[in-house]
Amino acid sequence: MNTSGQEIDGLVVAITGASSGMGAVTARRLAARGARVVIGARREDALARIVAEIEDGGGHAVACPVDVTRPEDSVRLVDRAVQEFGRLDVLIANAGVATVAPLRDGVLDDWNAMIDVNLRGVLHGITAALPVFTVQGSGDFVTVTSTAAAKWVPGQGVYAATKAGVRALCEVLRQEVGPQIRATMICPGATDTEFTTDPDLRARMSAIAMAPDAVADAIVYALSQPASVDVGEIVVRSAAQP
Ligand SMILES: NC(=O)c1ccc[n+]([C@@H]2O[C@H](COP(=O)([O-])OP(=O)(O)OC[C@H]3O[C@@H](n4cnc5c(N)ncnc54)[C@H](OP(=O)(O)O)[C@@H]3O)[C@@H](O)[C@H]2O)c1
Repeated sequence: MNTSGQEIDGLVVAITGASSGMGAVTARRLAARGARVVIGARREDALARIVAEIEDGGGHAVACPVDVTRPEDSVRLVDRAVQEFGRLDVLIANAGVATVAPLRDGVLDDWNAMIDVNLRGVLHGITAALPVFTVQGSGDFVTVTSTAAAKWVPGQGVYAATKAGVRALCEVLRQEVGPQIRATMICPGATDTEFTTDPDLRARMSAIAMAPDAVADAIVYALSQPASVDVGEIVVRSAAQP
């Protein structure tokens, strides 16, 4: 059994939701360690800035505008990695949105948007990457869920349902496709990003939020394990989070 860790240097990594927050920090972190990154999201200007930053630092990155609610966009993201760098070693399904509101508010458009991005978007990523991983006989599928996947509180019913759904998908994926293909969930607590747009909630969260670097570190840790080790789940949150 090979017990040496997987090198980040040279990995080909596609990341969704990489135009800001955890996805952008993770793209920069992995590229700084020699990974070749394909960054996807809807905001093309933000993606272009991050690619320029990475390339200025001597790294390798390409932007791929994607809307994860469209299955064909996830296929395009995976194809772009293969065309540009010859393979795909890691897909990080990180894109997510949240509306915090009690169920009695009945904001169906927002609920459906969360289901489309957070749950269907991840499923689209799995479906796009698995054929490539299967042919290669290797691959890492990483999803960014949330502590909300397991801790259910008022106002987060639909968000928690999407993240709990992804947790189920990821665990079943691990059982179905191991041992060559690994599946890992990163479950962050409150994190200081652009995620929460509501000013009151943002102010309350900032008191207990951690930096997105903690999530990038957790992803690097999982990817750095020997091929024989699958880190199933990492919960990472601010020490101040209740
Ligand atoms: N911040 C927190 O407190 C927290 C806590 C636990 C878990 N999370 C999870 O962490 C992940 C990253 O969030 P973040 O905190 O880094 O927030 P963020 O800065 O708002 O990043 C979210 C990313 O998702 C992308 N995105 C949204 N809808 C998309 C779509 N339809 N297609 C493609 N990309 C889309 C956004 O890019 P575009 O707008 O350019 O498309 C952005 O790059 C999410 O899955 C979130 O649920 C966040």
